[in-house]
Amino acid sequence: MRTLLITGGAGFIGSHVVRKMVLDHPDTRVVNLDKLTYAGNLGNLKDIEGRPNYQFIRGDIVDAAFLEKLFRSHRMDGVIHLAAESHVDRSIADPMAFIQTNIMGTVNLLNACRRSWNDPEGKRFYHISTDEVYGSLGKEGLFKEETPYDPRSPYSASKASSDHLVRAYHHTYKLPVVISNCSNNYGPNQFPEKLIPLAINNILHMKPIPIYGKGENVRDWLYVKDHAAAIDLIFNKGTNGRTYNIGGMNEWKNIDLIRLLCDIMDEKLDRKPGTSAGLITFVKDRAGHDLRYAIDNSRIRDELDWYPAHTFEAGLTRTVEWYLSNPEWMQQITSGAYQTYYDRQYIQR
Ligand code: NAD
Ligand code: TYD
Repeated sequence: MRTLLITGGAGFIGSHVVRKMVLDHPDTRVVNLDKLTYAGNLGNLKDIEGRPNYQFIRGDIVDAAFLEKLFRSHRMDGVIHLAAESHVDRSIADPMAFIQTNIMGTVNLLNACRRSWNDPEGKRFYHISTDEVYGSLGKEGLFKEETPYDPRSPYSASKASSDHLVRAYHHTYKLPVVISNCSNNYGPNQFPEKLIPLAINNILHMKPIPIYGKGENVRDWLYVKDHAAAIDLIFNKGTNGRTYNIGGMNEWKNIDLIRLLCDIMDEKLDRKPGTSAGLITFVKDRAGHDLRYAIDNSRIRDELDWYPAHTFEAGLTRTVEWYLSNPEWMQQITSGAYQTYYDRQYIQR
């Protein structure tokens, strides 16, 4: 039985990846290592926690000694590394945790793999990254794997730095690595600091929907289960040393996306058409707000035969249905420190 370490498996994307690997690969022992920061939530994994091939370990990737011990006590065959500080606004308010977890934490993991993998045959370190490392596009063009890095927020700069370090360990120490850079994810279990779940929660409670600037910024949205499927493919079939861009070819201006979401919410909540759109409120723009992200996903389509299986309308509707049928999930999150974050980010804006 091979052992796969997944870091950050209690977070949004990580919990979907953990579930997929546990259920689709019963011959793989999955160890989920997560610090359980504000963004980590074991409630995301209740349905699989009793599976025989699943184990949760609470721990911090910034703690190098802890990782060394973990790698001595478990013979890891592969790592899928998702643990990170992931929210741009938080990185603007306080970059240090991003430097520690995203850069130092990644290097600690690389060192642990390097030390324990004397024979790299059959081993793999898979680093999950973001399209934000490529910077900001104008109205035209797409990010390709060869696009030069140009990160512009503390978050994207920390992810770019970790990508470079992962590649450096491949070239210098021959560590078997793969990297993927994905566009914006959405779906069940996303923490309500990100645009879509924040808007769903505010619409539900008839609170203003904050749109930064004029809502003209463009993101390429991908349903989280499509990302998890791509990660499974790349981990099992990708080529060492290679980078794969993952995206939905699904660009939306923020304001158009929110209008579509408002229509879905009005219908699901039996509200008069236009009720939710009346909550749209333009607020002061994000500092250094990147205009547009868009991915050319032809490499992963051509080489690994991956394509997004969910249309945006279908994925968004399923997402709304999930949040509406899991009110206790949101309730548990928004009753705690979230309120302090929300007040600082939006009320005192
Ligand atoms: P998230 O914030 O929902 O989850 C991050 C998880 O990492 C949490 O469970 C948290 O507890 C854990 N974590 C944080 N610091 C840790 C530490 N020091 N040690 C151990 N665990 C720690 O993030 P997400 O949105 O699920 O993103 C997961 C990964 O995917 C990140 O690397 C992110 O950069 C990348 N990514 C995200 C998106 C997106 O749209 N959300 C898009 C592309 C790439
Ligand atoms: P976000 O979900 O934070 O993802 P990212 O910054 O990584 O792309 O934001 C998506 C887009 O929505 C981005 O252009 C910023 C914008 N946005 C708002 O307009 N209002 C909000 O309250 C949030 C959180 C984001």
